[in-house]
Amino acid sequence: MLIEADLIIKNINQLITCRGGVKVREGLNDIGVLEGIDLACGDGKILYVGKNAFSEIPVKRDAVIINGENKIVMPGFVDAHTHLIYAGDRLADWKRRMSGFSYQEIGRKGSGIMSTVYLTREASEELLIDYAAKWLNIMIENGTTTVEIKSGYGLDFKNEIKILRVAKQLKEEGVLDVAITFLGAHAIPEEYKNDREAYIKLIIEEMLPYVKRENLAEFCDVFCDEGYFSIEESKRILKKAKGYGFKLKIHADELAYTGGAELAAELGAISAEHLIYISQEGINRLAEERTAAVLLPATSFFLKSQKPPVKKMKENGVILALGTDFNPGTAFCPSMLITIGLACYYYDMSIEEAINAATINSAYSIGLIDKLGSIEVGKQADILIFDVPDYSYLAYQFALCKPWKVIKKGKEIKTFRG
Ligand code: NIG
Ligand code: FE
Repeated sequence: MLIEADLIIKNINQLITCRGGVKVREGLNDIGVLEGIDLACGDGKILYVGKNAFSEIPVKRDAVIINGENKIVMPGFVDAHTHLIYAGDRLADWKRRMSGFSYQEIGRKGSGIMSTVYLTREASEELLIDYAAKWLNIMIENGTTTVEIKSGYGLDFKNEIKILRVAKQLKEEGVLDVAITFLGAHAIPEEYKNDREAYIKLIIEEMLPYVKRENLAEFCDVFCDEGYFSIEESKRILKKAKGYGFKLKIHADELAYTGGAELAAELGAISAEHLIYISQEGINRLAEERTAAVLLPATSFFLKSQKPPVKKMKENGVILALGTDFNPGTAFCPSMLITIGLACYYYDMSIEEAINAATINSAYSIGLIDKLGSIEVGKQADILIFDVPDYSYLAYQFALCKPWKVIKKGKEIKTFRG
């Protein structure tokens, strides 16, 4: 049966489509801008992109009609990397960092990830959902329509499962698309400090099979870095996860070079993330295996750390994606618009590169490229409308250029559960 349009955006000044699949090398500069165009949606999907929608396709009598003059329209942002579910804050850590201590020093002194773990273990599922909902609302306000969520602040069987159940509940509410990642290997918890092997066994033998059986996560990630999980440990965990059918992600080369990017490529991971200290070999291997590099500029900014070799990655054909890394310890920033701004000002990306990285390429990095990330007929109608005449305003008007409307599956949303 022919679907009738229930939403039409007329005469759009700039429609940024990001069409044509994943973007690499020079293609990363192509955001597929169309001018003076109509966009029609029906049944939550994109039905038509072209001139004169009213004469070209059937339109419902009560369809929503929006005037797109002087506006830009683009795909919703896909935040490819967050640690959304946690309790408390890390203000004490932040103060120490501002007085000169490094993230690693603070972690070694027993604060860092572990302090968030203690508070998260205490929190009920309801409380965690309330906290997450608050941040999701800020994400939506800033144009995020799809979000990846990692566990990793439980670090024992009961609490990792609790966090994944919270993520699953958020996913099932269907307000946003959610990709769930099991990150039981986020740190060795304090209780296992003198017996790392026992914690790794707990992950491999108990957590992974349970998470799989209960279908609580699609991806498995490991914090493979100096002071966290070694290359050998990460490889063991990820190989097991792959055997269970998880798709793989790796926190790689964030604090020091460890070869995490090479490992991601070797194991056929869908993404490697952070990559501040990635090697040339790591770059080559990610490009060869089409493992996406998820860049997290808010983290470098927040930690005042080095920047990854973004230009080199692009020139070598790596698929670049963007995420906020939203978490209380290293990136207390839920906004993809700030992330795009930082990608431009701090990581020296062009606005076009940042837009592709925050939409179509980040959709690739969480396995959703066939469904969303661009404005093309048949894709889900996840759309942002900005009341500005040119897409460069997204970075030009840093952090303040918020969407006028956020449309998810063809319907305007303002808040989570709103
Ligand atoms: O992505 N790198 C590991 N995880 C987070 C930090 C988590 C925390 O410090 O609480 C990150 O930077
Ligand atoms: Fe992270």
